[in-house]
Amino acid sequence: MKQPVRVAVTGAAGQIGYSLLFRIASGEMLGKDQPVILQLLEVPVEKAQQALQGVIMELDDCAFPLLVDVIGTDDPNVAFKDADYALLVGARPRGPGMERADLLQENAKIFTVQGKALNDVASRDVKVLVVGNPANTNAYIAMKSAPDLPAKNFTAMLRLDHNRALTQVAKKTGKQVKDIKNLTVWGNHSPTMYADYRFATINGESVKDMINDQEWNANVFLPTVGKRGAAIIEARGLSSAASAANAAIDHMRDWALGTNGEWVTMGIPSDGSYGIPEGVMFGFPVTTENGEYKIVQGLEIDEFSQKYINITLNELEEERAAIDHLFA
Ligand code: NAD
Ligand code: LMR
Repeated sequence: MKQPVRVAVTGAAGQIGYSLLFRIASGEMLGKDQPVILQLLEVPVEKAQQALQGVIMELDDCAFPLLVDVIGTDDPNVAFKDADYALLVGARPRGPGMERADLLQENAKIFTVQGKALNDVASRDVKVLVVGNPANTNAYIAMKSAPDLPAKNFTAMLRLDHNRALTQVAKKTGKQVKDIKNLTVWGNHSPTMYADYRFATINGESVKDMINDQEWNANVFLPTVGKRGAAIIEARGLSSAASAANAAIDHMRDWALGTNGEWVTMGIPSDGSYGIPEGVMFGFPVTTENGEYKIVQGLEIDEFSQKYINITLNELEEERAAIDHLFA
């Protein structure tokens, strides 16, 4: 049997947490042969801590063979101690009358503290996934607050957008999601993201040729994927949770266990590829192997794609400008 690994999850008593923890504990994220210790963080508020205890009781009651221990805490230094994986889900939601800039500032406080705690106490190889919105900029803040950890350890979740795009393409072509290869989503986890099926294939055939409908791409596909989060909030009265947890599992599993050459989308600090300035936390097509991701290189960026990539990059640059004073 393998040695247990430590998986920290923040916002553990929230909606996504409730869809996520049981799947991690059952081995869906890191494999059915990988024991885990869950280290769960919630805010120091009695109601949240009480709810967290309830979740821990339910985890106990599942008697998962792979779950070695569960720690519940309100202290990031306890939650991230020796963590091998950290899923930063908890974030300050946008309140009534709150502008995006206010949201950025409120979350900056949280992710500065958590980045610092990761820096101080986590494993030097910790793999960090930020889910809490605005996910890319929160991941950027955590990364900048952890100067002793490699920047490449910090990632943001674009996988939900990727999965949403897969299903829209499957529906349009009448094919199966599992047969779609080489799709990606560039940029920010926000309505500006650019879902790109130009390189995608289904059983070796070009998806672009199969669809052959640029009007659908620009006016149906991109808005459907980009505004899907808002459509779910409108329909459920709550933001996506099970699909977000599922995407987090996909992201971490693929990062840890490899994609066998297949493309997935991860929000990662740019290395300058495709003209994206270094350090910007940007959705890229990647493959993964031995716990490392690699950007898929050499893709042609046509005029249409460049326009969309510029829009999502500009938004990220604006978000970065709003919080960069923290690191001056
Ligand atoms: P939720 O409100 O149900 O749960 C969030 C939990 O986080 C709450 O229990 C809260 O107490 C906790 N929390 C807040 N600040 C914290 C902190 N500093 N430390 C620890 N815990 C903290 O929300 P949810 O539906 O679970 O969503 C969580 C976040 O994920 C939101 O920001 C949401 O917008 C985002 N989200 C992202 C994606 C994506 O694709 N990246 C998709 C869906 C939702
Ligand atoms: C989603 O894409 O479903 C979420 O990011 C929406 C949100 O604002 O929480």
